[in-house]
Formats: sequence, C-alpha cells, structure tokens
Amino acid sequence: MIIEINNESINELDNFINTIVDKNYLKNEFNNNNFFKVLINIKDNEIIGYLYYYEIYERIEIEYIFTKKEYRRQKIASELLTKIVDKNKPTTLEVDKENIPAICLYKKYNFKNYAIRRNYYKNGHDAYLFGLEKKMI
Ligand SMILES: CC(C)(COP(=O)(O)OP(=O)(O)OC[C@H]1O[C@@H](n2cnc3c(N)ncnc32)[C@H](O)[C@@H]1OP(=O)(O)O)[C@@H](O)C(=O)NCCC(=O)NCCS
Repeated sequence: MIIEINNESINELDNFINTIVDKNYLKNEFNNNNFFKVLINIKDNEIIGYLYYYEIYERIEIEYIFTKKEYRRQKIASELLTKIVDKNKPTTLEVDKENIPAICLYKKYNFKNYAIRRNYYKNGHDAYLFGLEKKMI
C-alpha cells in the first residue's frame, strides 16, 4: 500500500515498523521546502520503500527512491514510481552513472538520458540527468 506523508501526518510514521525513514530529515525538508513530498510503501505494517520528490507546480524532481534490501526486485519501487509517472508532469532526476539497478528502473519507465553531470556526487562519481518528457501544460 502506498501512502503520502506530509508535515501534518508525519507522526503517522510512528505507527509503522520504521527502520528506513529518517523522520527528522523529513521534518526538516517539510519545514524548509514547500514543494517537498513523500510517498511510502507499506507492507504488513512495515515501511519497505519510499520515494522523496519535489512537485514544483507543473514539474517534478525525484530526490530519492529506495526499497529495503530484502524486498528488492518485487516491484516495490515500481509501485512508487508509477504514482509519479501517472501525474503526467515533466520529471527529472539525477542518477549515479554506476547505479545499474536504478538506471534500469528509470529506463523501464521511459526516462531518457539528457546529460552527464561530471563529479556530481561527493565520491567523485558522475551522474546522468534523466528526464521524462510530458506536455508542460
Ligand atoms: C533502485 C531500486 C530503488 C529498485 O527498487 P526495486 O523495488 O528492487 O525495483 P523493482 O522491483 O520495482 O524493479 C523494477 C525494474 O527496475 C529494474 N531493476 C531493478 N533492480 C535491478 C537490478 N538489480 N538489476 C537490473 N535491473 C533492475 C528492472 O528493469 C526491474 O524490472 P523487472 O524486475 O521487471 O526486470 C533499489 O535497487 C534500491 O533501493 N537501490 C538503492 C537506492 C538507490 O540506488 N536508489 C536510486 C537513487 S537514484
């Protein structure tokens, strides 16, 4: 089941076996950015995946998507990403050039590689700028 968490409902996270979501990080983002949004994937009362994104009027930036290790390759990220794709808005994200699982995931949903961002990550890795084109309005 996918639910959306916002600043008002953040304490609902305490109802779940919460091992992968950092509540303080979320609180901070909600307080500092009007556009920050959170989707979480729940199974048997446990948070097994999440997707953080910014919905900035007509466009979306995906900040991070994560599936708990033992639930990978079971379409948990797909369920989350589908919620974003279904919004039908132009969507961008950066992905580590070496992150094959994530690259394959985005390609499956028709994201295209628009640019390389050299030294994007602190570890020196490059990133691809991926985008999903949609009609702007
Ligand atoms: C990337 C990640 C979110 C994928 O989550 P997931 O729940 O396992 O993904 P899904 O089961 O929905 O997979 C959907 C598709 O993604 C691709 N994919 C996922 N994992 C893959 C892997 N290890 N190798 C190749 N392709 C993979 C496949 O195309 C897959 O479709 P298929 O299973 O029908 O072949 C997960 O590996 C993860 O949490 N990684 C660590 C965090 C991370 O790197 N996030 C991305 C930041 S940009």
